[in-house]
Amino acid sequence: MKILILANLEDRHIAQIKAIAPEAELMVTTDRNKAVSLAPEAEIMVGWNLPREAIAQAPNLKWIHSTAAGVDQLLFPEVLEREILVTTSSGIHAIPLCEHVFAMMLALSRRLHYAIRQQIHRRWDRRGSVGGELGGGTLGILGLGHIGVELAKRAVAFEMRVIGTKRTPSPVPFVERVLPPEGLDEVLMESDVVVIALPLTPQTRGLIGERELRLMKPTAFLINVGRGPIVQERALIRALREGWIAGAALDVFEQEPLPADSPLYDLENVILTPHVAGTSPRYMDRAIPLFCENLGRYLRGEPLLNVVDKKRGY
Ligand code: GLV
Repeated sequence: MKILILANLEDRHIAQIKAIAPEAELMVTTDRNKAVSLAPEAEIMVGWNLPREAIAQAPNLKWIHSTAAGVDQLLFPEVLEREILVTTSSGIHAIPLCEHVFAMMLALSRRLHYAIRQQIHRRWDRRGSVGGELGGGTLGILGLGHIGVELAKRAVAFEMRVIGTKRTPSPVPFVERVLPPEGLDEVLMESDVVVIALPLTPQTRGLIGERELRLMKPTAFLINVGRGPIVQERALIRALREGWIAGAALDVFEQEPLPADSPLYDLENVILTPHVAGTSPRYMDRAIPLFCENLGRYLRGEPLLNVVDKKRGY
């Protein structure tokens, strides 16, 4: 059995995989072209941005394990049409991702984005630097999945009220009101901070456009750590320029890398990070044990964890 891994692994990660599947041949690379050339022999592929050519050229491929949570960039026609199992790393991102969202929420609310600009210019501006408060406000979470729940738990510690949407509404710990996707407008209208923690699917693509942004409070912040195309970027840029909302913090974009001429870079009420919210130096120490758990199940013929419903898209 040959396993192609497109990721930067340490020796300890390889040892963990070997301990589960001593007979397996591991083909580990960080080079996408090399991955394509090794692909025809692979039964299993592991990685988050596996090249489409690699998958198209792998007649023996039975299972793709994504080291990411979102698999929108992996569901190529070759994957959808063939009986290839796809699993994700959902569940490993909570700590870095929630800490990132809170860093963004606190930075926007306490106006650190403004203060940092003043610092660069050696300016002392108390009046412009006075921030607001998260406590007592409402956090609206679009997508109450694993990350949404972890965010809600932390928001309650900040004395926020939490509401949100969930595809199949059911009570969620720490969340006062769980609405179906049709409850979007209500969440947008009531929230002081809106966090997008949704996967990218045909239903969520372009979900937040002009109409939705105009429903938000002019004092509210929008945070996107889901996928860029969920927000219509041109509408968001207008919203930020014209004050329909107070600010935004974005980790994901319609096009990544975000082109250097994007107007988003110039907006003073925006914080941008380059798709790193779910990442930390401990990433692979969480991703590889999850893959190993699934590899053991695969070898024993048991059901795998985090299997993607290809029709649903996550
Ligand atoms: C990162 O964006 C992920 O989906 O894991």
